[in-house]
Amino acid sequence: MAGALAVAACGPKAQGQPVPADLPPLKAVAPVRVGACVQALHLGDPALSALLTREVSQLTPEWEMKMEYVVQPDGSFRFDAPDRIAAFARAHGMALLGHTLVWYAQAPDAFARLDEGRISFVDAYRNYILAVAGRYRGQVVGWDVVNEAVAEDGDGWRDSLWSQRLGAFEHIALAYRTAREADPHAALLLNDYNLEYYPRKRATFLKLAERLLASGAPLTGLGTQMHVAADIAPGEIGRSIRELASLGLPVHVSELDVSLTRSQNKLLSRDELRRRQAAVYAEAAEALMDLPASQRFAFTLWGLRDQDSWLKKENAADAPAPFDDAGRPKAGAAALVEAFRG
Ligand code: G3I
Repeated sequence: MAGALAVAACGPKAQGQPVPADLPPLKAVAPVRVGACVQALHLGDPALSALLTREVSQLTPEWEMKMEYVVQPDGSFRFDAPDRIAAFARAHGMALLGHTLVWYAQAPDAFARLDEGRISFVDAYRNYILAVAGRYRGQVVGWDVVNEAVAEDGDGWRDSLWSQRLGAFEHIALAYRTAREADPHAALLLNDYNLEYYPRKRATFLKLAERLLASGAPLTGLGTQMHVAADIAPGEIGRSIRELASLGLPVHVSELDVSLTRSQNKLLSRDELRRRQAAVYAEAAEALMDLPASQRFAFTLWGLRDQDSWLKKENAADAPAPFDDAGRPKAGAAALVEAFRG
């Protein structure tokens, strides 16, 4: 028993041990909205819904507010699942972040094979944004209007059905103008990933944001997804967030998870990876907390429990989340509490 107490006394960061379950809720100690992604289907899981309501104050639909769910093969729209998520958020006093209106990765057939004798492509594009952003007007705190617009290596912007049909820059600017037309109050964010790994991508992302602002597009926030590995070099996350904040816009840590199995360094033990994972969670939270309060949009985890993470599909041995499968806080959760407490 003494040994166990000694281990626990070293503090959760040093071990891969589950930390005391009486850790305060993240949302209780964070001076910023703490979010999590969620699927409508999983709201029926009492353990998950209890953990969500205990720990977070904002939800992001993981996939059911995207075109892949909303747009049917015949071009009609379905909203049952996102409506369920919106209702859950409302019932529990949580903010809702719309994710995402325009994404290169999703161009449903209904758009790709549009009968332009019936409706122009630009009108179909606008109608979609007006319909979806209009439906959740007054329910969402903001939208990831455009997701992942920058090329993988940072050399320019991504090619997509949207850019081909409406123009590389124009389809992006039009999306923000149309989202604002649909919802006069929502924050309108530009969201992307690997910004902490690739300074060139980060620079291109910032240049796109500056060009949008210069064009008068109503861009009002920047989302950095932060799907990282536990062995990311210490300091990279902090550097990235500080640089993203240089435009003066609010910054959203929008999809944070810290993979153990995606780590490049295969010589690190599981315990060392867990230790580093906790330190990475802390660095991300501290970096956002270091920004002026007006620039802290939210801090969103892409999966509260390990079992909820998309990364489990890639590698079942991964354990990227701050809570374990039973919803018990891990060292990452304890590190977040410490970081939020400052
Ligand atoms: O639940 C349905 C199932 O009923 C159906 O049989 C099956 C086959 O179609 O699909 C299942 O839904 C899948 C859903 O994940 C839930 O697992 C969708 O096909 C699949 O496309 C969806 O993948 C999501 C992916 O984005 C694409 O939308 C992931 O959950 C989600 O974690 C991932 O999230 C993205 C962010 O939006 C953007 N940043 C990167 C991040 C990770 O890729």
